[in-house]
Amino acid sequence: MSMNQITLLYLVASVCFIQALKGLSHPTSSQRGNLFGMAGMAIAVLTTLALVFKLNAEVAGSGIVFIILGLLLGGSVGTLMAKRVEMTKMPELVAFMHSMIGLAAVFIAIAAVLEPQSLGIVQTMDAPIPTGNRLELFLGAAIGAITFSGSVIAFGKLSGKYKFRLFQGAPVRFQGQHLINLLAGLLILALGLTFTLNGSTAAFALLLLLSFAIGVLLIIPIGGADMPVVVSMLNSYSGWAAAGIGFSLNNSMLIVAGSLVGSSGAILSYIMCKAMNRSFVNVLLGGFGADASASTETAQEQRSVKSGSADDATFLLSNADSVIIVPGYGLAVARAQHALKELAEKLTEHGVDVKFAIHPVAGRMPGHMNVLLAEAELPYEQVYEMEDINSEFGQTDVVLVLGANDVVNPAAKNDPKSPIAGMPILEAFKARTIIVNKRSMASGYAGLDNELFYLDKTMMVFGDAKKVLEDMVKAVA
Ligand code: TAP
Repeated sequence: MSMNQITLLYLVASVCFIQALKGLSHPTSSQRGNLFGMAGMAIAVLTTLALVFKLNAEVAGSGIVFIILGLLLGGSVGTLMAKRVEMTKMPELVAFMHSMIGLAAVFIAIAAVLEPQSLGIVQTMDAPIPTGNRLELFLGAAIGAITFSGSVIAFGKLSGKYKFRLFQGAPVRFQGQHLINLLAGLLILALGLTFTLNGSTAAFALLLLLSFAIGVLLIIPIGGADMPVVVSMLNSYSGWAAAGIGFSLNNSMLIVAGSLVGSSGAILSYIMCKAMNRSFVNVLLGGFGADASASTETAQEQRSVKSGSADDATFLLSNADSVIIVPGYGLAVARAQHALKELAEKLTEHGVDVKFAIHPVAGRMPGHMNVLLAEAELPYEQVYEMEDINSEFGQTDVVLVLGANDVVNPAAKNDPKSPIAGMPILEAFKARTIIVNKRSMASGYAGLDNELFYLDKTMMVFGDAKKVLEDMVKAVA
């Protein structure tokens, strides 16, 4: 295969990736987007194999075995994990994948520094790596190492399964943390420049170690409620690490794919920061959201609430003219989306105007609720984003909150001291009547009590969302 053909195929793969991103921007076109992504990746992998054979004839011998083994091992682990993962565990999987991308970037950078000739960076064994390539390797390796260790901490915090202190949802803070981060950042820069200017491998090794450390330091002070932004920020970092390495290897595919991931991750982080009222710059530099920590320690007061049965809730719903349904994480846990669809259909048949309101960070990953509702094939025209529906709550008869908590917590608006103060919420509290379904009075992800549950016009329906919705469907019938 000629170099021109390889470049052309890389271009085709890049166009596929752009189409994939375009398709994934809406549920109706997301399957097409996924197909484009898969086709692009297949073309990119096969073309890279062809390129490896072309540049390095030795690979055609024993080296190919290692490549095939790597592909089989990585492919099988990926397939198994994707098949097994539950929808609610997706953020952990994403964090794990980012950590792998970061680690891959680090390994490639180490290989390139130690064996530049075999990667085509220099022509002869003793030729020094050009300064430009050293700068790219420094950036790719440092960002890759930060992405790896930061993603490992994010993985631990999101999974909530491990006793290790750094993996707890509560932020870990200590005196002088910001100063240490700043000094470590400056030291990485100094070591990076030393490596760039004189090619010192010791400086390269030290900067790698420090980058691994700063990845941990940046993520540990971040509390539970801010983890979604962290995951999308690490997504962006992993893209930039890949792009940096792409420059060193002179591989246009890695540069394009890395830049696409880096910029789309940055845009997503920005959108999520806006949705959660966080400063984008603080997120980029780490150590933001420290106040959210208090959330996990908030004491639950013993206060009384009004509660009712599924039948009571159905009575209110079927006698309403307008209903807005707010899905949250609990709906995903209960896998109640199909029962919800049935209820919505029954209410619509009764002449009730039913709408769904989606908060951008409801659930545990971006677009979680959209995916859930799409899975049940709920009509897209009934599904509204927060900014489009917030003005309607005031004129709505009944709001049905299903397994959502933080995203409808009025404290975000009313309590400037609340850890979620300023975060835009779905203004369910404005509706004439509110029905909240959850299993107990336990708090949501941010660990906060929710004033909405104690309002006079609120009725709590305790129970698993699926069971409650199935009972409601029977009651409407
Ligand atoms: P949460 O605030 O986490 O509240 C979910 C509620 O669902 C809980 O209060 C829980 O109460 C209830 N629940 C759990 N299982 C249930 C079941 N089987 N049936 C009925 N209810 C059930 O969820 P939210 O309102 O969707 O807010 C999302 C939160 O997660 C935000 O704080 C957000 O920052 C964070 N977060 C979001 C993301 C993204 S990107 N979306 C990623 C990570 C974190 P009970 O235990 O009493 O049932």
